[in-house]
Amino acid sequence: MQDNLDITVRPRRLRLRSELRDMLKRVTIRRSDIIVPIFAIEGTGQKREVASMPGVFQMSVDVATDYLAQRAAEGFKAYLVFGVIDRHKKDSVGSPALDENNIVCQMLRSAKKRKLAMVGITDLCFCEYTDHGHCGPMTDDKSTVANDPTVARLVQQAVNHARAGADVIAPSGMMDGTVAGLRRGLDAAGFTDAAILAYSVKYASAFYGPFRDAADSAPAFGDRRSYQMDPARGTDEAVLEATLDVQQGADMVMVKPAGPYLDIISAVRQRVTVPVVAYQVSGEYSMLEAAFRNGWLDRDRAIMESLIAIKRAGADLIISYYAEEVARLAE
Ligand code: PBG
Repeated sequence: MQDNLDITVRPRRLRLRSELRDMLKRVTIRRSDIIVPIFAIEGTGQKREVASMPGVFQMSVDVATDYLAQRAAEGFKAYLVFGVIDRHKKDSVGSPALDENNIVCQMLRSAKKRKLAMVGITDLCFCEYTDHGHCGPMTDDKSTVANDPTVARLVQQAVNHARAGADVIAPSGMMDGTVAGLRRGLDAAGFTDAAILAYSVKYASAFYGPFRDAADSAPAFGDRRSYQMDPARGTDEAVLEATLDVQQGADMVMVKPAGPYLDIISAVRQRVTVPVVAYQVSGEYSMLEAAFRNGWLDRDRAIMESLIAIKRAGADLIISYYAEEVARLAE
């Protein structure tokens, strides 16, 4: 017989008072959860807004150092630096990436000189430095990026970064065997303490579009589908990539993009024992900003909700362009 049992459980009881709601929150965003991305450009006193990412700026090293000092004072603990260089300096093998005085190394040294209380993380890739915009030197037939030669060059780039003061190296090129190569190369050069944050699970995503404006790294021909992952593959491939990187010595693994890939963050979280980082990428940012500009979404609430969802899915840390907003909105 139907009785009233179903109504004895009333989840709304715990939602009625704001005090109870506050007490029962499990997922909170702290400033120390957020890794702050930086696009470093040459020159001094330079600050240029990225057209497709309103509110995000390319900055010369001096301006970026000031910007990061402010973030450090607010309680942020890490930055991720991307180098952006003049097009005429680029070549087919991305030589400027191996210059010990390049823009990324300058940024690292400037942060050290300023004694910034922040962990310095470098994006390790060639797409910002090759004239064709792919993530390493191409094979002879130009059909894809040459895997092993790229890994060898990534090792040289990583050693430069470590020498300039990088605490964490984050390879983003999706070449097989990168982490093993880096660990061996860094150790052999004496940088046993440089950590590796592997962009392990990186999809060939349309959501990187605005970043390629910011970093001037769009491929001149073709796309990245012969090295980045297919969004239509299942979660197993993500778990394979993450576990391979952990076996090779990754200290942390990354899933990217974040918001549209919460299932992947959750699957990876359950299968590895190292910290999981998620990258709320440029397209996720620009999509929200476009809606805010139209007055279609509540800016503060939507920003925090997007970050809470990523953390709830299992991310320990989030790379996000919303540091300044988090500084204002975090508890
Ligand atoms: C590669 C790299 C990319 C991003 C981070 N590292 C671009 C790509 O793979 O095409 C994208 C980040 C973003 O979209 O915010 N160096």
